[in-house]
Amino acid sequence: MPKPTIHRRLQRIDEVQGDRVLVGDRWLLNLASNNYLGLASDPRVIHAAQHASLAWGTGTGSSPLLSGYTALHDQLAEALADWKSSTQSDANPEGGLTPEAGLSTEARVSPGRGSPVVADGTATGGAAAELTTRAGRAVLFPCGYSANLAALRTLLDEDAQVFADRRNHASLVDGLRLAVAEQPGRQVRYYRHRDFADLERLLEQSSPQRPRWIVTDSVFSMDGTCTRPSDIGEIARRYSARLLVDEAHATGVLGHSGSGLFSLSTAKHSAAQPNDGAGTTGGVADGAASDGSPPVCIVGTLSKSLASQGGFVVGSWEDTERLIQGARSLIYSTSLAGSSVAAALEAIEIARSEAWRRAALQQHVRTLHTGLQQQGWRTIGDLDAPLLAVIVGDHLAAENVAAALEQRGLWAPAIRPPTVKPLECRIRLSPTATMSEEDIQQIIAAFAALRVPQLT
Ligand SMILES: Cc1ncc(COP(=O)(O)O)c(C=O)c1O
Repeated sequence: MPKPTIHRRLQRIDEVQGDRVLVGDRWLLNLASNNYLGLASDPRVIHAAQHASLAWGTGTGSSPLLSGYTALHDQLAEALADWKSSTQSDANPEGGLTPEAGLSTEARVSPGRGSPVVADGTATGGAAAELTTRAGRAVLFPCGYSANLAALRTLLDEDAQVFADRRNHASLVDGLRLAVAEQPGRQVRYYRHRDFADLERLLEQSSPQRPRWIVTDSVFSMDGTCTRPSDIGEIARRYSARLLVDEAHATGVLGHSGSGLFSLSTAKHSAAQPNDGAGTTGGVADGAASDGSPPVCIVGTLSKSLASQGGFVVGSWEDTERLIQGARSLIYSTSLAGSSVAAALEAIEIARSEAWRRAALQQHVRTLHTGLQQQGWRTIGDLDAPLLAVIVGDHLAAENVAAALEQRGLWAPAIRPPTVKPLECRIRLSPTATMSEEDIQQIIAAFAALRVPQLT
């Protein structure tokens, strides 16, 4: 077995209270969780989970094809399909988003790098076509990881040519490995992170006779960068490529009512983006865009902003049927416990209706970018992403910063290789919507205390 390059250890959390965790004998502000909306401790979500345990028991004891698919599971699948299939644009900016909200801080200082960003859905207000055609269906999985394995293994054509972002999440990477191992006729090529010219170069070299797929995260969780429909939708259409998008970190926090950046139709945001070049508008039928391009396949997890456990795929009827017939992690694994299902259902309800959570989260991320950059720290990430990263250097430097932050009451472990490159070790900061302005100022003050000795 290959040795991990850096020793890892399980870190025991002794107690959780809202945004704080007890580690040993110290309460620390938790900046290392993906509970972006703060719903994991919301009394309504907890109550829903408790109630479901009473009503349905603590476990289903069976796979979804036997006795593990309850009315509650069906209700969640419906809710996810409804939320994710909506082609409503988020031209109506919740939380006061501004046109530059999607600009990465890096892209702003050096135009031309990264995405040619115009913020999707943050636009210029106004005239978006509000279509709410319900187009797809959702299938539930034990977790987001297994949903990605299943989708890639099951949905890719036997001779698919796959184009994948180099910084895709490990579950997409592993899904592609599995997909190719099972069907060597499949071929995977990786393009540079969010470099759509590189993607086009690879597409140009590919065979028009064989099916093409583009596989990407929509929010990259270690960088805080985003791939948006306006980045990639038009390219997919031009090369007749299908899109598979992992919305793990976008679900609940980005897009209209938190539905994420992508809908089944890549045209979702094009209608609201007169200057993003994509330009296609219109309705959807069976998940396809009005120009007939095939539906996007969306993978997600219930374990981040939805404060629960489990994964899902939202896709066209045909795609989801293929999953039910062939996805081994659905067929041969016990279905989600009722408490997880009910918690996610309640969290979706709250995420859809409480836009202030997205606005607060975004404000926190912006305040952190500004405050830390003013001190000279190198932060990366798009301003509307739910997290940011502070690039520190090698793993020892990052571990030292993490330890010093812990001394100042913050829990933000270092992110090290192989997750990131050896000299790009970082502190990943994911605040939650429920943190206060004082909490955010505590973070900025902690970094300031570290920086001062280095600057003098
Ligand atoms: C982008 C992405 N996809 C998939 C997953 C896997 O989701 P889950 O935790 O539900 O297995 C994660 C993280 O856990 C993730 O960050």
